[in-house]
Amino acid sequence: MRRPQLEVQADYAAMSRRAATLIDAAIRARPDLVLALPTGATPVATYEELVALHQRAGTDWSRVTTFNLDEYLGAAPDDPHSYAAYMAQHLFSKVNLSPDRCHLPRGLAADPQAEAARYEAAIDAAGGIDLCVLGVGINGHLGFNEPGESLVGPTHVTELREETWQRNFPDLARLPKEQRPPTEFRRAYTMGIATILQARRIILLASGREKRAILRQALDGPVAPRNPASLLQLHADVTLVLDEAAAG
Ligand code: GLP
Repeated sequence: MRRPQLEVQADYAAMSRRAATLIDAAIRARPDLVLALPTGATPVATYEELVALHQRAGTDWSRVTTFNLDEYLGAAPDDPHSYAAYMAQHLFSKVNLSPDRCHLPRGLAADPQAEAARYEAAIDAAGGIDLCVLGVGINGHLGFNEPGESLVGPTHVTELREETWQRNFPDLARLPKEQRPPTEFRRAYTMGIATILQARRIILLASGREKRAILRQALDGPVAPRNPASLLQLHADVTLVLDEAAAG
């Protein structure tokens, strides 16, 4: 059995450089790479490093295809809370990706179930994901596959857990209920666990002490839906790029 490979770097900056080096090398080895991409605080400096490598070493993103892991239901692409806006800010506007090759679930789609099915079909039509880059929630969520009694295989619509919502929207969580926007972004599209596990290769990034316990449980505990990250034990090619604080 192949255990996940661990790469422990001194700190967040070194972790981000290492992650970017691995992703950049994958693009150079396969210029038409199909990438799955995460959002959140963790990958911000990885994207900065990828942009720097593109500028410094000329890595060509023109034939790369990207699929984001998740997006909020009801989020317009120009809403600053949307993952579409996050990706435009941190990566899409800064490398030579072709706009028609950058995919996120459409937050404003009229029929969410149909949108989830369309997204999954688009991943299949692209030949599946070559490299899936992941972050991890402090409760073990991957994308928005939250811990629970069961997990869902393909891309689907899901409900955010309260702790995830509060962490992702600290400003909204502080507002009185009547002042919050109508959707509150409580629901999201996410690639499913099967979509993620069908990627040919997975790199998970984690930084900081708060991720330590859930990662240890994911690697050494049982494979169980109460910790979605534990499902990574089922995949044969997983690399965890961690800083020392996360690795412990
Ligand atoms: C968010 C995203 C995940 C991300 C995770 C960790 O809710 N949906 O894809 O990996 O939470 O976020 P952070 O890197 O900010 O800790």
